[in-house]
Amino acid sequence: MKGLILSGGAGTRLRPITHTSAKQLVPIANKPILFYGIEDMAAAGITDIGIVTGQTADEVEAAVGDGSRFGVNITYINQPDPLGLAHCVLIAADFLGDDDFVMYLGDNMLEQNLSGFVDRFVDAQRSLSEPRLLDGPGDKAVPSAQILLCPVPDPSRFGVATIDAAGHVVDLVEKPADPVSNLALVGVYLFTSAIHDAVAAIEPSPRGELEITDAIQWLIDSGRVVSHEILEGWWLDTGKKDPLLESNRRVLESLEGSVRGDVDERSTIDGMVIIEQGASIVNSHVRGPVVIGADARVENSYVGPYTSLADDCIIRDSEVENSVVLERSVISGVPRLVDSLIGRDAKVERSDLRPKATRLMIGDDSSVGLV
Ligand code: TTP
Repeated sequence: MKGLILSGGAGTRLRPITHTSAKQLVPIANKPILFYGIEDMAAAGITDIGIVTGQTADEVEAAVGDGSRFGVNITYINQPDPLGLAHCVLIAADFLGDDDFVMYLGDNMLEQNLSGFVDRFVDAQRSLSEPRLLDGPGDKAVPSAQILLCPVPDPSRFGVATIDAAGHVVDLVEKPADPVSNLALVGVYLFTSAIHDAVAAIEPSPRGELEITDAIQWLIDSGRVVSHEILEGWWLDTGKKDPLLESNRRVLESLEGSVRGDVDERSTIDGMVIIEQGASIVNSHVRGPVVIGADARVENSYVGPYTSLADDCIIRDSEVENSVVLERSVISGVPRLVDSLIGRDAKVERSDLRPKATRLMIGDDSSVGLV
């Protein structure tokens, strides 16, 4: 079993952050989103992982390296233009060979780990094909693909599946106006090598992309079995600000506190708080769940629940809550910054007037003056 993580794409929904950097490297609880997927694969015993990269290939390669620190081998596959999820499979054909693989969208976050999902697919392949049956059109028993589905309140924003009485997927529709079920396709797919014929056979969709839903539908229409599982726990496509902040909240809730930085005697710390080495908290109140990165400084401030401050941030004379602040950014004199995503090296500073609240999505290197 190999892994294929998709980390290219345009990231238009997370602009302006993605004008300058990869959306898969935006940190959740101070760890890049992409790392959660790699770690999840490693935990499922998948050590041969291909990462599809786009315009931000250099940044992704610099962050992930050869994979040795995750205990895996990484092969990079460059996709110059984001021509669709099925196009990623097409260009990864040499890397994938004839092996089964799990495909994972690099901006997705799942609570459930992959191992059960992967193990059950492998077991189904083994038990149903003993003695080994050919995985071909007449062979109804062996799934050629397995998808993961999640009931959602707003299915028309997602790929939606129809399931028959045997639990097989019979129909997939991308963003239907009139959804037939509330089962949305989660960004994790298991494939046998049968998918290679499918991605080679389909045509680009009206939006100009080779759609993975079309490739899976092609498998179904060719008489192959596509099975499914219903996801347990939460799943978020972090490609927009609010789901990203929600992922940050969920992950922070699951962590254990530890204080390695300095907290002066005028400061108070409540709840789950992680303060990394070299960080200093001066005359401030930190109310978890919160993570504060290495060498960050919080001074005369309040840092409230569900906030992640990356390394080398400075929070001065401010209140910050339910927000993600990336490396080296400065928040100074801001009475109440909430529900915000602040890029790297950004500055948010105010003069004397005091607005009641500030809600922002700020790209890297931005400078915002509240006057
Ligand atoms: P999407 O979020 O569907 O697309 P996108 O990254 O282009 O984002 P936006 O809609 O904001 O413009 O992509 C899901 C994941 O797959 C994401 O990690 C990017 C990756 N991807 C590729 O690697 N190649 C592609 O051709 C596409 C479409 C996506």
